[in-house]
Amino acid sequence: MNNKLDPQLTQPVAEPPLDTQGFERPRDLMQEVPEDLVPLLELVHRPVVSARQFSREQLVQLCRLAARYETQPHLISRPLTGKILISAFYEPSTRTRLSFESAWHRLGGDIMSITDPATTGIAKGESLYDVAEMLNHYGDLVVLRDTDDRAIYEMLEGLRIPIVNGGNGVDEHPTKAMADVYTMLKWRPALAAPGSVAEADKVRICIIGVPGRMRTVRSLLLFLSRFAPGIAEVVIVTDVDQPFDPGQREELEEAGLVLRVADDLDRELPQMDVVYINAIAWVGDSFENHGARYRLSAASPLKPGAIVMHPLARGDELDRDLDGTPFNWYFAQARGAVFVRMALLAALLKSFN
Ligand code: CP
Repeated sequence: MNNKLDPQLTQPVAEPPLDTQGFERPRDLMQEVPEDLVPLLELVHRPVVSARQFSREQLVQLCRLAARYETQPHLISRPLTGKILISAFYEPSTRTRLSFESAWHRLGGDIMSITDPATTGIAKGESLYDVAEMLNHYGDLVVLRDTDDRAIYEMLEGLRIPIVNGGNGVDEHPTKAMADVYTMLKWRPALAAPGSVAEADKVRICIIGVPGRMRTVRSLLLFLSRFAPGIAEVVIVTDVDQPFDPGQREELEEAGLVLRVADDLDRELPQMDVVYINAIAWVGDSFENHGARYRLSAASPLKPGAIVMHPLARGDELDRDLDGTPFNWYFAQARGAVFVRMALLAALLKSFN
């Protein structure tokens, strides 16, 4: 055992530099978008499984409500007092589980958490349908993460309380993508405006990843298609031959998104306003790394004013030397997930005030 005092223990904890965290931006979004909770009423008591379920108006208003929660936390009453969240994560998670639980706590509710299905009747062969029947009596809302993309649909058959998809296999991760949209709307509130956008004001988005294998990217692209008028193009940077699932690209293009696939990252970066990077895809009990070839660091030719996003957890693809730069919006992205999940939970339980 080391018997010397670690020098870090003699220093006060450093305060984060506010200008690289995006903290100040929710106010800009609130000023740009008038609050209108009516589109959120359609979400009351609905399950949330796919990004396809959300309209542009609902996304904008969820982000507007999230911005209110982020800027005025002292004004939040505790509307979920007495309500119980069942947080069932059958696959590892840092951000999704903890930010959902933080969101629920901040709204005043209580939580039951399952992190291993082997501690439930599933280990004895109990069906998810039967588990769902029990959950109806024990809680008010379920968040599920499962390696099997069909598991959430099996639970839906037996549930009479809302369920939220916290990541189902390689299929979707809609609330993560909601946090991504929230980040982009804070950075560029004008994206929330309806109608046409002047060509010069449209943004260019680079996604380093594989849409057919990464659930975060799949859901994000579906949401971006709702904002297509404000997006000049989305460039998918990958060295994978078939990065899309059959029909995936066509669906996005039919919704108005301009897509291009490229493989030379540094050639694309100087034109890109938003750079989203991800390397990991969870598949079954393990993960695939698709990012060995692409790296971002402070030496990358990023456009001045651009933002870098990452769903996290990061690996070698995102150098820590970007953390202290204004390009770093990935920590604001993870932080904002708490507030956008609060907004969604409040909407599902009709508990916004
Ligand atoms: N991006 C994301 O879903 O993070 P976790 O796996 O930590 O939840």
